[in-house]
Amino acid sequence: MPARPRTRGTDEGEPPSIEWVLAGRAYVNGRLQPVEIGIDEEGWIRRVARHIDSDRRHDVGEGIVLPSATDLHVHFREPGDPEASEDLASGTLQAAYGGVGTVGEMPNTQPPITDADRLRDKAARVAGRTHVDVLLYAALAPGVRVASLARVAGAFKLYLSPTTGQPEPTRISDASALLASAAETGLAVSVHAEEPAYFHDTSRVGTVEGWNAARPAPAEAYAVSELLSVAPPSLRLHIAHVTRAEVAAQLRRAGQSFETTPHHLLLSDRKGPDARFKVNPPLRSEPERRELLAAFERGEVPCLASDHAPHSLDAKRRPFPEAPSGMPGVETLLPLMLQRVRDGALAFPTLVAAACDRPARWAGLPQGRLAVGHRANLLVVDFRRSRSIGARSLHAPCSWSAFEGFPAIFPREHYRNGEALLLDGEYVGRPRGRVVRPDYAPGNDPTGPG
Ligand code: DOR
Ligand code: ZN
Repeated sequence: MPARPRTRGTDEGEPPSIEWVLAGRAYVNGRLQPVEIGIDEEGWIRRVARHIDSDRRHDVGEGIVLPSATDLHVHFREPGDPEASEDLASGTLQAAYGGVGTVGEMPNTQPPITDADRLRDKAARVAGRTHVDVLLYAALAPGVRVASLARVAGAFKLYLSPTTGQPEPTRISDASALLASAAETGLAVSVHAEEPAYFHDTSRVGTVEGWNAARPAPAEAYAVSELLSVAPPSLRLHIAHVTRAEVAAQLRRAGQSFETTPHHLLLSDRKGPDARFKVNPPLRSEPERRELLAAFERGEVPCLASDHAPHSLDAKRRPFPEAPSGMPGVETLLPLMLQRVRDGALAFPTLVAAACDRPARWAGLPQGRLAVGHRANLLVVDFRRSRSIGARSLHAPCSWSAFEGFPAIFPREHYRNGEALLLDGEYVGRPRGRVVRPDYAPGNDPTGPG
């Protein structure tokens, strides 16, 4: 695991100036107990204690306080077709409602983010329009200027298989030089690891099960093994959307960061011809899904990410082979898993580690724990308030969810840098999201809150 990001406010002798206190219950040292969190005027956690004196207190009673999530994998499609069913504003609003305080926004846009000018243009779209913070990925592909991208990007994304907006994948034989250049910059690399040589003819596939057979699990296992053999040891590597427990075990043995998604944990390929469930890599069989979920619930998967990839229902209704892959999920990522906690299937600290702490650590961001020097990016949840997911009560412009009818626990309150985004489940914030970069990025000022 990479080193913990630099945090603020921990210098000896620096007088804490606590502006307000959030009082509730939280897991501290593995135990749920009453806790008060002192937040300074710049939105950093200055104290965590049983009691903190302050004139401004907000007591959430039985409410449980946790850090907001960092979702390392979203596709908000900006820049892109203005008619597309998503952009940075709508995507980050869903994130705010779902308890995701920072998103990692992918580069497979139109045009793709392959040079520093495009990255700067994208960064300029964040201020004044986004509701949570945004880490911007740059594409790592043959021909890109890695060092120049690294001065602006938050991380890199490498595609080893074709995907939306990225018809030409990078071959594993080209990947090793690219990974070596990325390692020199210090920036992290997330990889879509499927080896197309293992794919079968997808042009006649008509079901979700057929999609699984056509992009089979060995495509993933092979790509991961190859990557592990070519990645320089100093590289902060991360494997996106792992679908199989065997691959998770292999990555764990290698001490490698990786993520899995709620759809690969909770949905299987028994969906017939319904292309809403077509996704890359594919949903796997029911026994394989259960094994992955068991590994996740044992705490053997470091990160949880949504791979939020909204496609319109019109596009999803095309004949199966032409329907695009992907589903929305940033708003339901944490609520679905909080429900697993409520059901007693998942330990709360296991979820917080996978959704909040480790993704932030991988991305080099000082957040994800209720600890002094971390950003006051916080949630309050009430485990008694469970509700069924219904696309109509979500905020996705594409207006559908693969998790329709699933019970879930949505955050009641959400704070970004100590400022309320959600109160009583309703949006009360302002679009103050910022581009964030890791503290180890070249020429970086990690996170100027505000
Ligand atoms: O299903 C997917 N859709 N998988 C990806 O890797 C990309 C995504 C998209 O951008 O639509
Ligand atoms: Zn993706």
